[in-house]
Amino acid sequence: MATKFYLSRRLKIRLVLFILWRLQQQARVGIRARDGSREGEAQSVLSMQPLRAYASSSDGGDSDPSKIHEHPLIFHESEDVKQSYRRVCNACVQYVSPPFYSCSECPDFFLHGCCARLPELIRHPAHAEHSLVLHSKAPKTGFSCRGCHLRCNGFAYSCENCDDFTLDVVCSLINPAITHKPHKSTHILFMSRSMIIDEKCSCCASILNGICYECSSCPIFKLHVRCALLPKTVRHYYDQHPLRLTTNAPEGGTNGTDEFFCEVCEERIDIEQWNYSCSKCYQLFHVDCIPSIDQLSRIKLGSHVRVDVHGCPVELVRRNDSVCSGRKCGSCHEALRLGDDGLAYECSNCFFGLHQNCANKHFF
Ligand SMILES: *[C@@H]1O[C@H](CO)[C@@H](O)[C@H](O)[C@H]1NC(C)=O
Ligand SMILES: *[C@@H]1O[C@H](CO)[C@@H](O)[C@H](O)[C@H]1NC(C)=O
Ligand SMILES: *[C@@H]1O[C@H](CO)[C@@H](O)[C@H](O)[C@H]1NC(C)=O
Repeated sequence: MATKFYLSRRLKIRLVLFILWRLQQQARVGIRARDGSREGEAQSVLSMQPLRAYASSSDGGDSDPSKIHEHPLIFHESEDVKQSYRRVCNACVQYVSPPFYSCSECPDFFLHGCCARLPELIRHPAHAEHSLVLHSKAPKTGFSCRGCHLRCNGFAYSCENCDDFTLDVVCSLINPAITHKPHKSTHILFMSRSMIIDEKCSCCASILNGICYECSSCPIFKLHVRCALLPKTVRHYYDQHPLRLTTNAPEGGTNGTDEFFCEVCEERIDIEQWNYSCSKCYQLFHVDCIPSIDQLSRIKLGSHVRVDVHGCPVELVRRNDSVCSGRKCGSCHEALRLGDDGLAYECSNCFFGLHQNCANKHFF
């Protein structure tokens, strides 16, 4: 480990945050130990490792891009002007920008430069007792991330010892300490040691479950990891302006008699919950009604698979009115409806559809 001692500025900041985090965790361990409660859990905290950064390859444990996928990958250093459609990374399921890799054979396989070199093994503060192993082939129906509780069909880190501990790439590589601009930019939020806290999230007002962050200065400010990572602005095609994340009550307070409704689902917006809004058009949106951040936002759509009940390849799509209208599932023969898991496989040429759950039995 004594080989490279050059630290970039970013690494230094990470290091300082990590030391702060360790100090805080140790302080808590001290308190818990005096209480005499759950010492076994407290012990494991001391052996936690920091998350490894994408780029720190000095320990040689990172994946080799040529082994992560079955076909040769092509490296792109800059944007190819002709291909300006939005590509999604198969590892982290976020939009891809250069440098990135594409597959020489699969038309819809992309990886960020850094996602092609993810460490094969990580230690994660939310599961300090075991290492997590990188899997570049998730089951076709995806998995549920224990950190953010979103379904994901990208790469996964999972525990070999515990049956049910899998994280998506975003939750695997988040920092143990963050700041949150809309809260107070000088307050540091630490990842909590517990995955279930019997308190409400300051963003969505539901019980804290999964990876959570707690403000070190304000005891009441706690967030789910998914809520902590919500972007400051998002777009929705119902509004021509960027929508801003609203985290504070509007000036002058809400008028108790007024009710506000989401532009997409037309259901009421709870005044306790953060929302997205356009101040020019006076439109409000639920977080879960914006596709780029909703419950299905970690599902990479558009990939084609073959099934034994239809001749052409079928494509993974969100179920919407036009996908569902008048169509029956090619497996269970029930009508395709909105809802449930929200996904379907379709062949748009043949007017053929399958529930995602039904497709399970039919993959080649
Ligand atoms: C939008 O979110 C903010 C912050 O939680 C809240 O104060 C406000 O009341 C919400 N707006 C509506 C219309 O519910
Ligand atoms: C609150 O709503 C009432 C009834 O719609 C309206 O008369 C009043 O001006 C509103 N107050 C504020 C502060 O917006
Ligand atoms: C419904 O989904 C299909 C397939 O993803 C898409 O082509 C179409 O534009 C969507 N329709 C609407 C109204 O969103």
